[in-house]
Amino acid sequence: MFVWGRNTPAALRKVRCLDKVPGVTAAILPPTPPVIAHAAKLLRAGRLVAFPTETVYGLGGDATCEHAIAEIFAAKGRPRVNPLIVHVPGLAEAQALAVFDDRVRQAAATFWPGPLTLVLPRRGDSGLSLLANAGLDTVALRAPAHTVAQALLRAAGRPIAAPSANRSGRVSPTEAAHVVEELGDRVALVIDGGRTPVGLESTVLDLSGDPPALLRPGSVTLEELTEYFGPIAAPTGAVPKSPGMLASHYAPALPLRLEAAAACPGEALLAFGPDALPGFEAVLWLSRSGNLTEAAANLFAMLRRLDRPPFTGIAVSPIPERGLGRAINDRLRRAAAPRQG
Ligand code: TXA
Ligand code: MG
Repeated sequence: MFVWGRNTPAALRKVRCLDKVPGVTAAILPPTPPVIAHAAKLLRAGRLVAFPTETVYGLGGDATCEHAIAEIFAAKGRPRVNPLIVHVPGLAEAQALAVFDDRVRQAAATFWPGPLTLVLPRRGDSGLSLLANAGLDTVALRAPAHTVAQALLRAAGRPIAAPSANRSGRVSPTEAAHVVEELGDRVALVIDGGRTPVGLESTVLDLSGDPPALLRPGSVTLEELTEYFGPIAAPTGAVPKSPGMLASHYAPALPLRLEAAAACPGEALLAFGPDALPGFEAVLWLSRSGNLTEAAANLFAMLRRLDRPPFTGIAVSPIPERGLGRAINDRLRRAAAPRQG
């Protein structure tokens, strides 16, 4: 579990409230017990609170409150056809929202709390906002492992819808400062829990049918899921089962070029492994030692750091397509895809 403070940038730790920074109306506060209690109160009052999870920062709102959910979609500029993940402390709370059979109960007990989201049939008496589920008869549930997220969910006493706390289609936030940059004028409070340790969004697994289908790769890997469940299906059909998995997503403003074998003029490089290609304007190492866990944790923050002049593009070294590498490559392919309107 992640403990606040260790990775928190010193500059952020000093800033207790950004009320006086132009354009920023959110308070940014450390996760002390009074702050958690205050955040829970804001959530129960239908306000939005950004908070750290072990994957990325989430933009939280009461999942039983249509008004709060409408605010989340508006703040992110998110298409309303794209349903939200509902966060709970654990299995007991999840069972009030979705239909669990023995297989699903055991899977949840095995993988929760942790970065695995399960898509399950929604209970008729769940009380969840229909908007949160985009009108689907399923719900995506997740029990995050981060101590701050756990404390907040328990204090709120309600299911909390929380998409990644970025503008729709952009890079997910792994630090409180990223949330402030993107949504500082749209949230009541940002709880600063330092850098999120995993750095990529949760794995999304559809257990509403058989066999299970992997809707979004993440740090619970296909290899681990196959070992536990047996064969896992890829999502099929013309209509994406997970509408958030649009081709273009996680996109920086600059063009992104994958599997770079040589430098192009003006480009910066995100390198993986000990050897960096020559000729780039700047190089940031996702992982010098070729460690996929380290690369995942660095990916979004480094994309943000290079996404600005004087660079004219970002190139990325090849990343192996195994384990966590699948999730990294999935995000990179979407970030490099042609942009949608
Ligand atoms: O790690 C995470 O999952 C983060 C943190 C904050 O928990 N949250 C996150 O949420 O990434 P978001 O909204 O950015 O991504 C949710 C994904 C989308 O791809 C969405 O389409 C899918 O989950 N999803 C949500 N409900 C679904 C459902 N009922 N059926 C299929 N896919 C669903
Ligand atoms: Mg997202």
